[in-house]
Amino acid sequence: MRVLGGSAAGSMGRAIAGLLGVEYSAIELKKFPDGEFAAKVPFNAYGEDIVVVQSTYAPQDRHIMELLFIADALKEMKVKSIKAVIPYLAYMRQNKSFTEGESVNAKIVMRMLGQSGIDAIMTVQPHKTDPLSAFKGRAVAISPVRTLIEAAAKNLKDPYVLAPDRGGLELAKSAAAILGCGYTHVDKERDQITGAAHIRNVPSERFDGKQVIIVDDVISTGGTIALSSHFAYSRGAESVIAAAVHLVMSDDAHHRMSEEGVRKIYGTNTIPCENAELVDISKDIAEGITRL
Ligand code: R5P
Repeated sequence: MRVLGGSAAGSMGRAIAGLLGVEYSAIELKKFPDGEFAAKVPFNAYGEDIVVVQSTYAPQDRHIMELLFIADALKEMKVKSIKAVIPYLAYMRQNKSFTEGESVNAKIVMRMLGQSGIDAIMTVQPHKTDPLSAFKGRAVAISPVRTLIEAAAKNLKDPYVLAPDRGGLELAKSAAAILGCGYTHVDKERDQITGAAHIRNVPSERFDGKQVIIVDDVISTGGTIALSSHFAYSRGAESVIAAAVHLVMSDDAHHRMSEEGVRKIYGTNTIPCENAELVDISKDIAEGITRL
């Protein structure tokens, strides 16, 4: 087995190879004057089991295309198998048509990956796991919640976990079980035309003197976390921090959250991010590959 890192593998590719005790190589990209590019595998991969590591954060399309090109190049070399580790899998939140006429992006991405020659996929905490079934081989997801939450809560004396919407309840429940503390959720509603979120229902709990951790799968604009932080302080929270697996952080997310009193943001290294503490989950991924 050998690990091949794409341009969006970050330091994770090399770390995973080290943990698995196998050789690591980085893909070479041949760039054309018009902005197009081709992938070149820098070693003879004939007959090998290859683990490709490539995250698909922004520019999402380019990173997805690169992964497809890498898979094709490996197939041309007649490798034995291709496993793709995609720490952040883009387009998973558009897992259905929210309004009539919309594309179902998650399904399309999984189908494309299925056509590329990749035999199996491992990703990290996708928004929903249902779209993975559109991939024609084996596609599994791991949850790094223990690694993330233990790092985020290490200095908290009396934590309380808050899910910013009903969909985040399972993640919040797992986080609370790890910390041995209580959890609850607010009920967020999103306007499907404008994208604006607001809180519909709130739980009855108070958080007096507690350090609230808002746990989510992804932070994009930060609007969801900001709403929950406002709510937590209105119910007596001593402090609020956010812990999310994927820090997409678009549209000045960091300021939106800090304006509502979010003191620190924790995420994982599936996506590079400044203004946040990133927890390395290479070990969770390496263990996942062994199981895959
Ligand atoms: C949605 O249900 C997700 O779990 C996140 O809560 C959401 O995508 C976060 O988006 P934003 O940061 O833009 O509010």
